[in-house]
Amino acid sequence: MRTKTRRRGLARTGRAPQTQETGNGRPEKHPLVWLETNTCHGDILSLLNSYHPDFGTLTQELLEIYFTNTLMAAHGSQAIEVLEKIRLERSGEYILVVEGTVPTAAGGRYAFIGLRDGKPWTALDAVVELAAGAKHVVAVGSCATWGLPYGAHPNPTGSKPVSAVVDRPVINVPGCPAHPDWITGTLAHLVWYGVPELDAENRPVVFYGETIHNLCQRRHYFESGLFARKIGEPWCLYKIGCKGPVTYADCPSRQWCGEHLNWPVGANTPCTGCASPEFLERTAPFFEHLPDVHLPGVRVTANRVGLAGGLITALGIGLHLAGNLFTGRLQKEWKKGLGKTGKTFRLKRK
Ligand code: SF4
Ligand code: F3S
Repeated sequence: MRTKTRRRGLARTGRAPQTQETGNGRPEKHPLVWLETNTCHGDILSLLNSYHPDFGTLTQELLEIYFTNTLMAAHGSQAIEVLEKIRLERSGEYILVVEGTVPTAAGGRYAFIGLRDGKPWTALDAVVELAAGAKHVVAVGSCATWGLPYGAHPNPTGSKPVSAVVDRPVINVPGCPAHPDWITGTLAHLVWYGVPELDAENRPVVFYGETIHNLCQRRHYFESGLFARKIGEPWCLYKIGCKGPVTYADCPSRQWCGEHLNWPVGANTPCTGCASPEFLERTAPFFEHLPDVHLPGVRVTANRVGLAGGLITALGIGLHLAGNLFTGRLQKEWKKGLGKTGKTFRLKRK
């Protein structure tokens, strides 16, 4: 269930509030459970690449991570006991982070997080039960937020995003993986100020408020009709598949790789739309530009579109392009064959 409401963040100051100290001189940390379901574990690994604050500072000063399948030393019944203890004794206090889709087919038996009272505890039951007692629920990564790629056709496990299985608002922090800043920033805001301002898809506006395209350093090439024809060329990558025009995230300005060094387009490869709700079924193939549509004054076709979502995505780009076409900037390029790759990507659905 995605709420369509907007919530306003309490404050955006340049300075972090002081964390209160406990009696023993250590900072009081906020309890957190990081549950990994159907996932490649890429988001928890992304979190380990946090730079400012780094993961050590985060866990020493802000968050007490009681449970994480990947990083905790305890395992087996010991780990499950910790999880149950938090669920029962810190209800209403802990933040629940879920990484991964939630398999729902066959009663959720495609993913277990462990044995509870000698019986398998499905990821589905764990997410539902832990979400019920959480102060905030955060879905991290595109699996947990949008349900893909694990939920891709034919989806035998019935994998769904977190928002589809819990009956409460979920804050979505998409990306494949999510940028460490998007994770730490959202968690820090929750601890210090409460729920940040969210968009209609429940994403924090501070990180997902602009399209990649609007922030891209190659935007002037797009406007001038200078397009790369193959990977490695320094022009706009739209024609070889860039999904920046329909993807909301601040990758071009924030950049990746720990110390904010580079990002996909900066490394000469198109944005695949990994943070977009259209990812993965509707942003693939990654190296073909989006399907064409009929627009006033524009001769294009929609014969490569198999899904309504694909059409909507294409329309988003098409409208943007139309603005440029009416100014005449792209007319020449378009006539030269924009959209004539000839291949199809009709997706089958039951
Ligand atoms: Fe940048 Fe991609 Fe937009 Fe081109 S299409 S300007 S490479 S985001
Ligand atoms: Fe993903 Fe595109 Fe950013 S592929 S990492 S949203 S540039």
